Amino acid sequence: MTGRLIAVEGADGSGKSTQARLLAERLGAVLTREPGGTRLGELIRSVVLDPDGTGPVDRAEALLIAAARAQHVAEVVRPALDAGRDVVTDRFIESSVAYQGYGRGLGADEVAAISSFATDGLVADLVVVIDVDDDTARERLGGVLDRIEQAGDDFRGRVIGAYRAMAASEPERWLVVDGNGSVEEVADRVAVAVAESPVGT
Ligand code: TYD
Repeated sequence: MTGRLIAVEGADGSGKSTQARLLAERLGAVLTREPGGTRLGELIRSVVLDPDGTGPVDRAEALLIAAARAQHVAEVVRPALDAGRDVVTDRFIESSVAYQGYGRGLGADEVAAISSFATDGLVADLVVVIDVDDDTARERLGGVLDRIEQAGDDFRGRVIGAYRAMAASEPERWLVVDGNGSVEEVADRVAVAVAESPVGT
């Protein structure tokens, strides 16, 4: 039996990386992340997120992230699923649609098509989006901002709006979890929502 693929999504500052880790621990799942999860993917991540230098143009950014995704699926995700392990990935295709498709304005369908090529058609069984309001996300974004986090308030607003629109258009595959409150409160909400979802039963 193949494992379940669960993507944890959210805007920068949503707390999604912490929640992805806690969910993976609860499920005994493989925890991985994008862009990254492989040696090539981590190299691409450093190029894409480097706040110094010129950085890739928007279309190059979309293609680099898709290349990292192809490597990640082939090396990590697909083998784990085939071995019957559940996989929790901190970001997946939906990040590209939200950030490159809506945030950068490259188009949701075009970006989804590049990702579909990259994953050879693999999609997450379930997408958990940690939903926080814009003010909370801005407050939680501390320290040195990476290149994409530096894109600004309008960009972040488009990303949050994109997640909400995608979740509304495909409610059977998406769980929207309120990300406001303590880490433990949000983790409990995530665990309950996943357990009650079609993949949890
Ligand atoms: P993130 O996962 O939030 O890591 P950290 O918690 O270390 O900041 O950062 C990854 C960044 O990459 C984030 O700003 C979103 C961006 N990104 C995209 O723009 N498109 C994608 O497809 C993926 C996977 C990430």
